[in-house]
Amino acid sequence: MNIVLLGAPGSGKGTQATRISSRYDVKHISTGDIFRENIKNGTPLGVTAKGYIDQGHLCPDELTVAMVKERISRDDCAKGVLFDGFPRTIFQAQELDKFAKIDCVINLNVPSEKLIRRIVGRRSCLACGGTFHTDFIGETKTCPTCGQELYQRKDDNEETVKERIAVYEEQTKPLVNYYEEKGVLVNIDGDNDIEKIFTDIVKGIER
Ligand code: AP5
Repeated sequence: MNIVLLGAPGSGKGTQATRISSRYDVKHISTGDIFRENIKNGTPLGVTAKGYIDQGHLCPDELTVAMVKERISRDDCAKGVLFDGFPRTIFQAQELDKFAKIDCVINLNVPSEKLIRRIVGRRSCLACGGTFHTDFIGETKTCPTCGQELYQRKDDNEETVKERIAVYEEQTKPLVNYYEEKGVLVNIDGDNDIEKIFTDIVKGIER
């Protein structure tokens, strides 16, 4: 089974992805995480991606599609993939259709005024991949899950977030219609309790 998680920045894709991938035993592939890993390791891909990500812009389509195509060809994706943050443009969706059959697209809906607050308060853990919010964990710098150090993503500041949301509205939102017309779209109210959202996603997938 291949699933796409669609939603604006901060809509909760990463938060729900860990739950979905473990329930359905599908490999969680986050294009944002792959780019950040490359930036951390200073690879040529990371050097290119950094300029786009720091400004809140999308990385080039061809580069992103080639990266995903290579990643999902590996053995750990054989049982199925949960695409988190991919596709993000109509071009990427059309390319994805050429190499993977998409069974279900989960679209997380959250009012835009709440997205900024969610992202600016997000703290992430490099060691275990967990994401948290200062509303729940306060200003601690220690990961509540694994005890390692928490950090704030460089693109998680108010100015860049506003640009990311504008880019989402213009380039990614058209995918809602694209997948609705294919009959695979499941709309989820993402402005809810995290566990309630997950329950709704499970119902949507199994419907
Ligand atoms: P990426 O890493 O994918 O970022 P994003 O799409 O902007 O999404 P986020 O990771 O910011 O948010 P999320 O929806 O995962 O929310 P989360 O669960 O963390 O991409 C980064 C960049 O990489 C892009 O800007 C682009 O430059 C590039 N890129 C990536 N993919 C690309 C592609 N395909 N093509 C081109 N470029 C690409 O939750 C957010 C916060 O809210 C957390 O603090 C969390 O604890 C909290 N939270 C979650 N759910 C709830 C809830 N229900 N109630 C209250 N708080 C909640």
